[in-house]
Amino acid sequence: MTVPKTLSLQQRSWQVEDFLPVDYGLPSGLLTQLDQDLHRNCVRLLGRDVYSEGDSQPLFDYLQPRWAEFTPGFRQLMTLWLADEQKHYQALRRVYQLLTRIPEEEMNQCFARRHHEIEPIQALLADEFTILVALLFDELGSTISYRRDLREYYRHYGPAVTNIAKQLVMDEGIHFQNAAQILQTYHDKRLGELPALLHHISRLEKSLGRYCKTFFLDHAQEQERFPPDFNEVIIAMILAHFDLGPSPRRGQYLWAWKPAGQAFTPLVA
Ligand SMILES: [Fe+2]
Ligand SMILES: [Fe+2]
Repeated sequence: MTVPKTLSLQQRSWQVEDFLPVDYGLPSGLLTQLDQDLHRNCVRLLGRDVYSEGDSQPLFDYLQPRWAEFTPGFRQLMTLWLADEQKHYQALRRVYQLLTRIPEEEMNQCFARRHHEIEPIQALLADEFTILVALLFDELGSTISYRRDLREYYRHYGPAVTNIAKQLVMDEGIHFQNAAQILQTYHDKRLGELPALLHHISRLEKSLGRYCKTFFLDHAQEQERFPPDFNEVIIAMILAHFDLGPSPRRGQYLWAWKPAGQAFTPLVA
């Protein structure tokens, strides 16, 4: 099987160094002038997200021995996806180091100590179709949550960090579009399974109540930052994308949501 001529997967071209050159430092005095509560929460958020991006590699490594069972389009998608997610890992590592001065070696050790569990998310990895649906769910959630992070946190750290966050928002949106394209190209006969499978994924995330460090369902580690109906709205947005339901009115509201009376959404330790 070859890649159909009609398939045109997207990848945005940017490099971490475009925004954070090797000698880049945060604007002087910025860290001391910041609201220290906001800064503490941003560091906590980054301390999770940076490694979740890195978790793309163990997920990819798990799938690689199964390469022969996948379509050429899916293989192309996953190759582009891994390159982007690893770039996000490097970009957020740089930002985390700028904010905390944590040594490179300590970050490497921190990542090496992670235990990546595949078993709890096995149901998502049954076949190419379920992996793509899990990607849809995850990438749309990431697009919205990074947009929230940009608005609540990253924009306070100067133009370079702000620009990195904008790249992440746009890339995650592209990942969603690419996964949708592969589904429509190779799996259109199974699209009717989307509602039940998406609800199953959402229930699995809630029942796990933790992030298993294998990329998917990483929002389980910060559910307090999202409105209670976050997953339901995400599912409705996905179904609307495939003309399987109406566009949810609350789609626009998700990334702007925060608890009443708060300037930003604090993270639970
Ligand atoms: Fe990413
Ligand atoms: Fe992504």
